[in-house]
Amino acid sequence: MSDRVEAVKAAFREKFGGEPDYIVRAPGRVNLIGEHTDYNDGFVFPVAIDREMIIAARPKADRKDFGMRLYSMDYDQLDEFAYNKLEKSAEHPWSDYLRGMLSIWQACAFKVRAFEAVLSGNVPQGAGLSSSAAYEVAVGKLVDEMMASGIPPKQLAMLAQKAENRFIGVQCGIMDQFISALGKADSALLLDCRSLQFRAVPLRLAEQGAAIVITETGVQRGLVDSEYNARRAECAEGVALLAKKLKQTSPKALRDVTFADFKKHEKALPEVVAKRCRHVITENNRVLDSVEALEKGKLEAFGKLMNESHASLRDDYEVSCKELDVLADLTQKHPGVFGARMTGAGFGGCTVAIMKTDAVASYEAKVIPAYEQATGRKARVFVCKAVGGASMLASPMMAAGPS
Ligand code: GLA
Repeated sequence: MSDRVEAVKAAFREKFGGEPDYIVRAPGRVNLIGEHTDYNDGFVFPVAIDREMIIAARPKADRKDFGMRLYSMDYDQLDEFAYNKLEKSAEHPWSDYLRGMLSIWQACAFKVRAFEAVLSGNVPQGAGLSSSAAYEVAVGKLVDEMMASGIPPKQLAMLAQKAENRFIGVQCGIMDQFISALGKADSALLLDCRSLQFRAVPLRLAEQGAAIVITETGVQRGLVDSEYNARRAECAEGVALLAKKLKQTSPKALRDVTFADFKKHEKALPEVVAKRCRHVITENNRVLDSVEALEKGKLEAFGKLMNESHASLRDDYEVSCKELDVLADLTQKHPGVFGARMTGAGFGGCTVAIMKTDAVASYEAKVIPAYEQATGRKARVFVCKAVGGASMLASPMMAAGPS
């Protein structure tokens, strides 16, 4: 087991005594392309990354005991509450994601029991790499295993999204929770966010001497909730107006509007709404084109689509910020880089780039200082691995072995 898992087990012994029965992990994600398309019934192309939430837990022996005990290693805090009376915590907001999952779980009539748990995450928070989805999915997977509920991963992802929408109050789409639950090692998932059909597309980057490089701008995502919801409303307005013009095809979401139909009626839309629609419609096409490029091993073509995605998010969707633009621009110009773009909701967070593995050192030596000089901020770089979705690392079932 990894050092992190050993550290979580040691913290469990110290806080609660004895060993945890269950250990679960769930990854964060980076989205290669397909931004702000998920809530428009569109396509996304994310990767589960080797940054994850780990939870070690042990159920209380007494099934009538409602008392939960959580220890966060990241915050060095203990939180205690009853699972049958769940509200957000003013004192320990970090426990809200677990509270939210337990709350949705019970609202869906699934059973829960009290447990003691230690939590430790290394997905950077507020960086657009889905630390909250990793946390929610880890809790879902843990409770599913503990209660032998047999909930399939797709449904786990949907429950986690519900927890985020209803309990946390963030109106996110399905992408982050889905990839955390269903990611596949060495692959990206092409996900149709309407049907939830998906396909794992092997990345085969190492064999082409390339890597996925994530760079944190050092700007915490700000404004996300209000601006995110405003974008959703603008998209809804756009599709309602376009539906009036496109009676034969009656689009239900921007996913249903072709670029040709959009161009025909663009002028009938308020200017800002037209820009939002243009981003979503062109971004959906870019996702499908980029999957084709990747499958053919055409990294130059893939990278070009990433660059175009960034420009569209900056100019049409207006969810970038100065730091993301500076970093994306410097990265795109660096020799050995195929493409770079902002990733996630925007307004800060990270860029994702595909570059030659042997360009990473010069990237760190040249681009990072140039970024600091231009913005006054320190960026952090990590080369990431595409890993599998949430999994149990230990459970009584696993200890018993196959029957
Ligand atoms: C956030 C949301 C996702 C998605 C992205 C933008 O990460 O949680 O559902 O909308 O923003 O692509």
